[in-house]
Amino acid sequence: MKRIVIINGPNLNLLGEREPEIYGSQTLEELNREIEEYAEGKDLKLEFYQSNHEGEIIDLLHRFRKDCDAFILNPGAYTHYSYAIRDAVAAVSPPVVEVHLSDIRSREEFRKISVIEPVAAKQFSGEGTGSYLKAIDFILSL
Ligand code: DQA
Repeated sequence: MKRIVIINGPNLNLLGEREPEIYGSQTLEELNREIEEYAEGKDLKLEFYQSNHEGEIIDLLHRFRKDCDAFILNPGAYTHYSYAIRDAVAAVSPPVVEVHLSDIRSREEFRKISVIEPVAAKQFSGEGTGSYLKAIDFILSL
């Protein structure tokens, strides 16, 4: 059984009401339920966290670094400038799969760069919930 810790970063608690034309109408709870359903029967244990705080995201990576098999991380806007989260991703041994609901390459200039990507095991972007489901499949393939 693989244990996966899923961390959603800032503003993702507002999914459903936050810019639905970009992020869709699904709430974070509904998103998590869909991921949970997808994982059923796949011999996975999923745990879900959300934080609006950079340091808390780092603390979560540290806390589970020795007893999970992989992380799925949507760092929100921290993706584009948090060297502290990048360093944490590089520091922990379980693979960290970076995910984004929207396609960060087809939006504003500042979103085109991910400082996380070079240290992430893989990045899935622009597929809505599908980005998370592909991350699950990727982790299963490891
Ligand atoms: C996001 C993309 C980021 O640029 C943005 O700041 C978010 C969400 C996504 O899932 O598409 O908060 O990570």
